[in-house]
Amino acid sequence: STPSLLILPGDGIGPEVMAEVVKIIDWYGDKRGLKFDVSHDLVGGAAYDKHGTPLHDDTMARAQKADAVLLGAVGGPKYDVLDFSVKPERGLLRLRKEMDLYANLRPAQCFDALADFSSLKKDVVAGLDIMIVRELTSGIYFGEPRGIFKEGNERVGVNTQRYTESEIARVARSAFELARRRGNKVCSMEKANVMESGILWRDVVTEIHQAEYADVELSHMYADAGAMQLCRWPKQFDVIVTDNLFGDLLSDAAAMLTGSLGMLPSASLGAPMENGRPKALYEPVHGSAPDIAGQGKANPIACVLSFAMALRYSFDQGDEATRLENAIEKVLADGARTADLLGEDGVTPLSTSQMGDAIVAALEAT
Ligand code: NAI
Ligand code: MG
Repeated sequence: STPSLLILPGDGIGPEVMAEVVKIIDWYGDKRGLKFDVSHDLVGGAAYDKHGTPLHDDTMARAQKADAVLLGAVGGPKYDVLDFSVKPERGLLRLRKEMDLYANLRPAQCFDALADFSSLKKDVVAGLDIMIVRELTSGIYFGEPRGIFKEGNERVGVNTQRYTESEIARVARSAFELARRRGNKVCSMEKANVMESGILWRDVVTEIHQAEYADVELSHMYADAGAMQLCRWPKQFDVIVTDNLFGDLLSDAAAMLTGSLGMLPSASLGAPMENGRPKALYEPVHGSAPDIAGQGKANPIACVLSFAMALRYSFDQGDEATRLENAIEKVLADGARTADLLGEDGVTPLSTSQMGDAIVAALEAT
């Protein structure tokens, strides 16, 4: 049956970049016979405006059933005054939590045409293609006890790093599965030298590797050394798997290896559904960019690359995902740039929809 795709454009530039993705989805339907059962719904401020909640229960139920969810961005100054319980971000958090999306995939990929744009030396980033897998639903951001307590006559702030074997095992499996479809290498990062959870992390990853993935090359690194290596020579890595806290820091650092926020996709995956596909939410890393919303300036590539990830990881269309990535590479090589990818050198930037059209034209030429 036709795979289902739930589109949640959200707020700010979310709907603007998503409109370009829809052009590409239509192209795949018309020209490649790749049909999706696409439906649209509200999330974030847009949902709050209509329903008084950033994620309606019906939308949540549709997301649980969809083969993949594609989200734009949520939030904006208009909603900053709202109570915490109905803030736009809560819509996104509810999706991640109720779908139990424990593996957050953040690729750091450098298109050759943009290698000069990175703040690092060109030879360090040109051709870079790594994937950070961050555990997303456990660890120090969730562990109990947590709180600010009174201890004698002063206060103490407490968070608890806590991982069960099964939480480590499932995200390790996600990383090994990914590695098999890529460079077949996993580097696991923790701090087993100073943390109990790190010792367990290393043990469990090693056990899963020996029992199920001995064909994949596995290495271990302390996360601080890993941060250093990521900046020094990132091309040594293929897949990096790490916990929630270290993954938060490492994935933000890795993202900046490649330049603009407007170029960065992500995926969050959960357990396999009955049809074998993982629960999945795809979204650009960037937010709703209120400073440029409504002006046609947003770069749609992060959102388009998020759809490419959906093709690869939810719909088993790796070749079509590569076709889309190559089309983007070609558009960039031809000099097309949205404003965020330009310096002050007088080149006229493309609008959001011009960039979308250029990508469709490049697909057309494949
Ligand atoms: P942001 O990512 O929206 O914007 C940061 C800067 O990058 C801005 O100057 C923006 O114009 C630029 N930028 C972002 N995406 C771009 C794109 N596709 N093309 C061109 N330029 C782009 O982060 P900010 O400003 O911190 O947050 C704005 C709103 O977005 C807030 O309400 C925040 O809570 C929300 N937000 C939502 C996220 C999500 O939906 N996952 C993630 C981050 C922030
Ligand atoms: Mg972060």
